[in-house]
Amino acid sequence: MPAHKIAVIAGDGIGQEVMPEGIRAVEAAAAAFDIEIEWTHFDWACADFYQRHGEMLPPDWFTTLSQFEAIFFGAVGWPEVVPDHISLWGSLLRFRREFDQYINLRPVKLMPGVPCPLAGKKPEDIDFLVVRENTEGEYSDVGGILYPGTEREVAIQQSSFSRLGVDRVQRFALELARQRPKQHLTSATKSNGMAISMPYWDQRMAENARAFPEVRVDQYHIDILAARFVLSPERFDVVVASNLFGDILSDLGPACAGTIGIAPSANLNPERTTPSLFEPVHGSAPDIFGQGIANPIATIWSGAMMLDFLGNGEPRYRQAHDAILSAIEASLLAGPHTPDLGGSATTEAVGNAIANTIASH
Ligand code: NAD
Ligand code: IPM
Ligand code: MN
Repeated sequence: MPAHKIAVIAGDGIGQEVMPEGIRAVEAAAAAFDIEIEWTHFDWACADFYQRHGEMLPPDWFTTLSQFEAIFFGAVGWPEVVPDHISLWGSLLRFRREFDQYINLRPVKLMPGVPCPLAGKKPEDIDFLVVRENTEGEYSDVGGILYPGTEREVAIQQSSFSRLGVDRVQRFALELARQRPKQHLTSATKSNGMAISMPYWDQRMAENARAFPEVRVDQYHIDILAARFVLSPERFDVVVASNLFGDILSDLGPACAGTIGIAPSANLNPERTTPSLFEPVHGSAPDIFGQGIANPIATIWSGAMMLDFLGNGEPRYRQAHDAILSAIEASLLAGPHTPDLGGSATTEAVGNAIANTIASH
């Protein structure tokens, strides 16, 4: 089998520190399961590509990246130097939209060995998937400032919920729920306060759910849903949400499960007509950058999801994914731990320990 071609964008801040560990783990698993990967690195970030070119990406980025099966992404953002909406709309959000990666799959799991901030919760109590709409909704650059510079100044920002966009994410989540033992899907809504988009979301949910009679579907307004993440996370199996609600839930969930430093994500184009993108949920963390203490597990776990995706159902790849997950579990139980988990280990020490466990698999 030819090597899988992967584009690597480590990006800014701790993206630079966690990415080598992500690659180290994927390499170890690939070697153990006879998988070949060819990595190509791109320095597309605020520092210092944007500083040199005034753009986050070169003009031919779409054609260049289209030649890859997947993109392994660290994080982008250097808010002191480049405004966040410029850097993120200039890279990550363009990839999601222009490569039509309309599913953002974000597992939330309390791992054995990780102290849970919620009293009395055990690993079996927090184990669910957030399926976030990833190309439209509240994330938009449509709108503008009216009467600028006057006291009547108004910032208007449109959101859009297309039938295609809503249906495809809801159906993906329904199908995912159908395949899981609990067959339970929760839909995040806010149809009491948002008078157009969310009633539409709910109406499409009811319609789409008809084709999945096995799946028990419920819905909560996003405010109480957030509270229930904290009070009764055991209630959840698969949670489907719009772009913004899914963004918030996918930091809240991992925080309930101990740290956002281990939360992975897959930005998927399920039809595989364009590359999918795998990245930690967290950002470039300028507050800890340069100290070598970022937790690399979110990136390593995202690498495992990437291997599973590359295999497209082939058992060898699933085994490679599982080997990485077992090594992550072993490291969370026995250490070493980075400071977010109460330890004092470096990013590299955790990455090395995980790669060694994978290799001795
Ligand atoms: P952040 O996720 O970067 O950091 C939030 C907090 O979590 C910080 O205190 C940070 O130190 C901590 N943290 C994050 N990852 C960690 C890890 N692996 N190990 C230990 N601690 C970790 O979010 P932010 O501070 O809101 O954003 C910082 C920059 O990153 C901004 O420019 C933002 O736009 C960008 N950002 C990028 C992405 C992305 O590229 N996918 C995602 C989120 C934020
Ligand atoms: C994430 C991030 C991004 C998002 C930002 C950096 C634009 O927070 O991947 O969750 O909001 O989607
Ligand atoms: Mn986010």
